Amino acid sequence: MNISIIGAGAIGTAIARLLTTAGLQVSIANSRGPDSLAPLIADLGPLAHAVTVQQASLADIVFLAVNWSKIPVAVQQLGPWNGRVVVDTNNPIEAPLFKPFDLGGQSSSALVAQMLPGAQLVKAFNHLAPALLANPATEGGKRVLFYSGEHPQAKQIVADLITQLGFFGIDLGGLQQGELAQFPGGPLPGLNLVKHD
Ligand SMILES: NC(=O)c1ccc[n+]([C@@H]2O[C@H](COP(=O)([O-])OP(=O)(O)OC[C@H]3O[C@@H](n4cnc5c(N)ncnc54)[C@H](OP(=O)(O)O)[C@@H]3O)[C@@H](O)[C@H]2O)c1
Repeated sequence: MNISIIGAGAIGTAIARLLTTAGLQVSIANSRGPDSLAPLIADLGPLAHAVTVQQASLADIVFLAVNWSKIPVAVQQLGPWNGRVVVDTNNPIEAPLFKPFDLGGQSSSALVAQMLPGAQLVKAFNHLAPALLANPATEGGKRVLFYSGEHPQAKQIVADLITQLGFFGIDLGGLQQGELAQFPGGPLPGLNLVKHD
């Protein structure tokens, strides 16, 4: 399966590094185009490739790691998604104000899913700061990563990737249960949980 990331900031870069460290190829896109990613690609090494957002959207597994208010613009030209897996790493809050967005009573992932008709959305990689996400093996155990979604096959694909990257994945259930790991609002974000054998 090929893997891409739309968004090359703090979270996109942390995920890219996890993938290349695990020996996996990754394509990365941002709003400014592939040339602007040259320093990051040089840093990540030969397994990382800069692409356009359109190219990134065609991967089997697409990580979406874009500032909340910019997601609609980032994805508006993309699709059809044809059942491809999208990992929603996003939270409905952003710098500099860190004022939560009004979601009208819906989960943030339900709103993202509506912007990606036909995609199989899995919420994951959204509840830890990049510095914690960077170290799946820690304190003699495996860092816990929560995931949720409505599509069992897509969840299994992401769960397998979470395991391959060295984390201990925990399935929270559907997207509504995934709100437990939504920041802000849920009780789980930021917890430094480590699974020991
Ligand atoms: N930072 C955290 O602690 C943290 C933790 C968990 C989850 N998250 C979530 O992860 C997401 C990304 O956060 P971040 O901290 O990584 O943000 P960030 O450092 O500001 O990076 C955002 C990335 O999104 C890209 N982007 C913006 N508009 C785009 C567009 N129209 N098309 C393509 N790419 C676009 C930016 O590209 P350009 O620079 O080229 O514009 C940049 O690479 C957010 O939803 C956030 O809530 C963040």
